[in-house]
Amino acid sequence: MSHVVLSAKGVVKRFGGVQALRGVDFELKVGEIHALLGENGAGKSTLMNLLSGVNTPDEGEIFIDGKPARFHSPRDAQAAGIATIFQELDLVPSLTVAANLFLGRELVHRHGMLDGKAMLQEARKRLEAIDRSIDPTQFVSELSIGQRQVVAIVKALSYASRALIMDEPTAALTVGEVDRLFDIMRGLASSGVGIVYISHRLEEVPQIAHRVTVMRDGKVAGVTKPDAPQAELVQLLVGRPLNELYPRRAHSVGDVLLRMRQASFRPHRASPGWQAPIKVDLDVRSGEIVGLAGVMGAGRTELLSALYGTGVPGQWHGDITIGGRPTRLKSIAAARRAGLAFVTDDRRGAGLMLRMSVGLNLVMSIIRWISPRGFMSARRQEDAIKSSFGQFDIRPKNPGIAVGALSGGNQQKVVLAKEVLGNPRLLLLDEPTRGVDVGAKGEIYARLRKLASEGLGILVASSEMPELIGLCDRIVVLRNGSSVAEFSGGVDEHEVLAAANGREA
Ligand SMILES: Nc1ncnc2c1ncn2[C@@H]1O[C@H](COP(=O)(O)OP(=O)(O)OP(=O)(O)O)[C@@H](O)[C@H]1O
Ligand SMILES: [Mg+2]
Repeated sequence: MSHVVLSAKGVVKRFGGVQALRGVDFELKVGEIHALLGENGAGKSTLMNLLSGVNTPDEGEIFIDGKPARFHSPRDAQAAGIATIFQELDLVPSLTVAANLFLGRELVHRHGMLDGKAMLQEARKRLEAIDRSIDPTQFVSELSIGQRQVVAIVKALSYASRALIMDEPTAALTVGEVDRLFDIMRGLASSGVGIVYISHRLEEVPQIAHRVTVMRDGKVAGVTKPDAPQAELVQLLVGRPLNELYPRRAHSVGDVLLRMRQASFRPHRASPGWQAPIKVDLDVRSGEIVGLAGVMGAGRTELLSALYGTGVPGQWHGDITIGGRPTRLKSIAAARRAGLAFVTDDRRGAGLMLRMSVGLNLVMSIIRWISPRGFMSARRQEDAIKSSFGQFDIRPKNPGIAVGALSGGNQQKVVLAKEVLGNPRLLLLDEPTRGVDVGAKGEIYARLRKLASEGLGILVASSEMPELIGLCDRIVVLRNGSSVAEFSGGVDEHEVLAAANGREA
């Protein structure tokens, strides 16, 4: 296991004034699963873009099988057997799953006609290896973020004859899916494929990796074994020891902000794979952080988006009161008026204007909701931007930079910051720390706790059980759209999992 399949030597990459990589050496051996760790903005995605032909280095070189590689596009890299799963998925939502899997490499009959049947059959076979819930004839736009991630993985696997580079592939997956993905990765590796695995989930490292490279500030901070103690990894990652990840829970909570009793949402049109909320009982008090647990497909995202008026069109039935008043949540505007704000699990669709500056993205959202005439003094704008940068540690500290040029985790911080700026009473969060590094996660948790102590109510869905348990005062478990159990924070993980899966603990 010593042959090096893919490597980078002394690579430097600059974007305008930002030096994303400052002389990085990296090597991937045949059959190796190599974890690549680092804080948000450390340069992981940039390195992977060089290895996969998306960008070329300003200095230094990429080698494949020891020979200098001249990739001019991802296609060149693919032709060389290097497959990539990008952090922001590159699927076409308006096409079916099968069409996406074969995009650009369609199967044809002998006469050159597209062989739809063969593609469908093949697609079904490949999908079933990981996730049976996805139908290849479905449109990608109908899939949840987690399901889309699975499709991107299945697609990349078919190219990966020499190397597979995965940028946070498990960020949106459930435990079961992660297990299946790991099995597939182990199979690929034992057949000789080298795998670069980028993740913020440190607990995955010893399970799956053979070797670990940690990046910091555009450089390699260290190469180590996967069974290194977590504290050592964290120290390499953030350059300092970390204290408690989770803040202390609140002592007192206030009045009930959101009260749902037997609340069901009926979509105007049935939509496959969309689990409507059914007979949900749920309270969120002022000052309280309430978690939503459940397996993928349990209806967590659907509940949040239906409350906010974004999911599929439809109507709520049953009792919903907000701040003691019966409320009809018919539209986003109605939800905003009632004091709700929502951070979706879909960064791309979350209303970030990628070409516009971070500062503009932050203030545009509040101008839109606060001032109907679209006016806000330059001074107030600056204050708002400054407070967002401080509260959420957005990096680099430059509001003039385009949002699209931020690292994935930092884009997520902007999404959070801009919702908080609107001063909501009740904040709905769907996977708020996806793609955020451990250090920044701790800061976000502390920030959320602080907001709660100032009276905000927070309802947060997460597929990371330790996050729900560590952060929340209470956890409500959803199954098939309904609330089926409730626990107080600090509960044992297995109890919650059992309820989510409909088993005895
Ligand atoms: N197209 C770009 N234009 C300008 N700056 C960029 C561009 N792409 C990346 N950068 C900058 O390069 C640095 C490294 O970013 P990169 O995306 O590689 O980080 P990362 O390690 O993948 O972080 P994350 O864990 O948040 O995804 C960041 O400071 C980022 O803002
Ligand atoms: Mg990245």
